[in-house]
Amino acid sequence: MTAVAAPARVGHPRIGIEGVRKTFTRRDGVEVRAIDDITLDVAPGEFVVLLGPSGCGKTTLLRAIAGLEPVQAGRIVLDGRTVEDPGGGVRVPPERRGLSMMFQSYALWPHLSVADNVAYPLTTRRVPRRERADRVGRALAAVGIGDLGEQFPGRLSGGQQQRVALARALVAGDGIVLFDEPLSNVDAKVRDQLRGEIRRLHAELGFTAVYVTHDQEEALTLATRLVVLREGRIAQSAPPAEVYLRPADTGVARFMGAGNELAGTVAADGVRTAVGPVVAREHALPADTRVLAFSRPEDWRFAPGAEVANRWRGRVETAVFLGPLSEYTVALEGGVVVRVRTLGTSGPEVGDAVGVGVPAEAVRLLEDPS
Ligand SMILES: Nc1ncnc2c1ncn2[C@@H]1O[C@H](COP(=O)(O)OP(=O)(O)OP(=O)(O)O)[C@@H](O)[C@H]1O
Ligand SMILES: [Mg+2]
Repeated sequence: MTAVAAPARVGHPRIGIEGVRKTFTRRDGVEVRAIDDITLDVAPGEFVVLLGPSGCGKTTLLRAIAGLEPVQAGRIVLDGRTVEDPGGGVRVPPERRGLSMMFQSYALWPHLSVADNVAYPLTTRRVPRRERADRVGRALAAVGIGDLGEQFPGRLSGGQQQRVALARALVAGDGIVLFDEPLSNVDAKVRDQLRGEIRRLHAELGFTAVYVTHDQEEALTLATRLVVLREGRIAQSAPPAEVYLRPADTGVARFMGAGNELAGTVAADGVRTAVGPVVAREHALPADTRVLAFSRPEDWRFAPGAEVANRWRGRVETAVFLGPLSEYTVALEGGVVVRVRTLGTSGPEVGDAVGVGVPAEAVRLLEDPS
């Protein structure tokens, strides 16, 4: 596989975000802190995914990096160059920040051919015609549409259009590529394919990426580091597996997928809950702290042996076949209902009395926010 374009410079740029704040004043006068003191360092070649619920500030942060949204405080440094510093009166315009963007809307020019659309960033930079054609050809081939250069965007499928947008984002060979939910408008199968392509191209070209999504699966697939935002602040910044397995708090834990939460207080023998003591492998919380003993449904199992520290009797209330796995709800003695996910379909039936349990190492204690 040939590279899309020669990198603009040796090595890849770093993105430094220091104490950035952005407040919007809505038309009704209410102030919204879209970015509330964010500091984030994106290392050269990192693929950082910004994840969080709608309205948490993902797009605003991305637009601030791009120079499309002036900030009120803080500093943004790209590749060692300060591009935004309201205190020092610095504001480098978007086209001079050395970055490319790919959006949810394809934003292709309908009157230009696919090749001319992809060539656009090179044209504005006055790259000579022959080099341009060469780089466009390689970019189109790299995203799997080498044969569509002469077509017009209006004749292409959504997935093909998004490949054009991807080729255009990569053709300039900018070391920084920003993505704002680029795959949310294409169907599930194409989305899967394009995710794979973006992963592959990143591995091959090593650009520095910041990618916005509110889709956990997408975030887990793409990120080398996951930054979970909440109300304009960073709730957790860690490799994807760590965010999933060791969420910083209940908000992150719930956002990252289904969980079982057993409320209780920390005691010497474990957490005292409505269904008895729950043992968690490691925690540093003092006695009497109110906590949620949090675990993922896939870490639960039926008919657990003595090696599983937390075991109960219960009754199966629902059983749902989800394809590769099945999900059950089980009412424990004491009334608490937990979710259990298992591979395959050979589990119990609705109404069955079952033993069910979760090992201590799969239980995390999170401070109870309520
Ligand atoms: N131009 C604007 N004027 C006023 N408020 C704004 C403006 N742009 C964004 N906001 C507000 O700032 C907050 C953050 O918005 P932002 O678009 O960054 O969220 P997001 O995380 O990208 O959400 P989504 O997942 O829905 O795209 C929201 O409360 C939003 O209403
Ligand atoms: Mg957004």
